[in-house]
Amino acid sequence: MIGTNGLPVRRCTEVLTNLISLRKVVADWKSQGFTIALVPTMGALHLGHIELVRHALSTADRVIASIFVNPIQFAPEEDFQSYPRRQCEDLSMLSNLGVDAVYTPNIKEMYSKSFQTMVEVPELSAVLCGKTRPKHFSGVATIVVKLLQQTQADFAVFGEKDFQQLSIIRQVVIDLDIPVKIIGVPTVRDKDGLALSSRNAYLTEVERVLAPKLHSELLCVVEDVVNGEDALLRCQKATDFLLQEGFLKVDYLEIRDSNTLSIVISKKNSARVFCAAYIGKTRLLDNIALLVGEN
Ligand code: PAJ
Repeated sequence: MIGTNGLPVRRCTEVLTNLISLRKVVADWKSQGFTIALVPTMGALHLGHIELVRHALSTADRVIASIFVNPIQFAPEEDFQSYPRRQCEDLSMLSNLGVDAVYTPNIKEMYSKSFQTMVEVPELSAVLCGKTRPKHFSGVATIVVKLLQQTQADFAVFGEKDFQQLSIIRQVVIDLDIPVKIIGVPTVRDKDGLALSSRNAYLTEVERVLAPKLHSELLCVVEDVVNGEDALLRCQKATDFLLQEGFLKVDYLEIRDSNTLSIVISKKNSARVFCAAYIGKTRLLDNIALLVGEN
């Protein structure tokens, strides 16, 4: 919309803390024929999240960002309690970007005492992160379905940084006939290659220096495999290298089919190298395409 001074009118960002207020806003937008894009987040926003918001703003008439640290995607021993929470900074960042609404529901409203329905995507959830985090993706799929239903979004934007999550969400909306277009956005990285993540805040100075080796080693794996090295052997070599360099544990470092996440790579599809590895207590996640320009 253009104002009387000829400049675009900046709309205010509405902060919606419950489902009733969200539904009112969504009904109003739908009645005016506006399309809606949703950017689901757990907050502690960084430039990766911001890139998703920018995609959303250029895609739909109205944008909702949600901030909700979803308890059911954390195992009891994981970092739900200590997960970084920076609501004030997040809200001002989103408002400066021109997001129309920020949805910040509370846990009791999202999960009533009688809550029991879970969304399961067994095959795609059985591999990679699902092996060490067996209930994680069902927690993710469940909250994402709830957010899609609540916001009635036409588009929802997710990062390729969490490629398995993105694949699972794509499968869910197909299987459950949810009328939303899922948009995947390439990973945003620091200058030294480290994929941005809210959990990078856990890294000590020394650990932060080590962290980019994960990405640089994945780049070497891609180059060597594309040049004919055996994929399995090269992945094992990369795992050994990361451990030698000071990574505490490598959960997996594998090349898999980009569409099916199967270890058998179909000739039709491209492949990616996926890794999850610990530096101290911090679990880093990364993945890159095997052939530049694909996926
Ligand atoms: P969160 O970790 O906050 O991430 C929110 C979105 O930002 C996800 O789609 C994630 O893939 C994307 N993202 C994170 N780091 C990124 C980066 N460096 N580059 C590009 N995109 C990046 O993922 C979750 O929250 C939750 O599981 C959620 C989907 C919100 C469900 O609770």
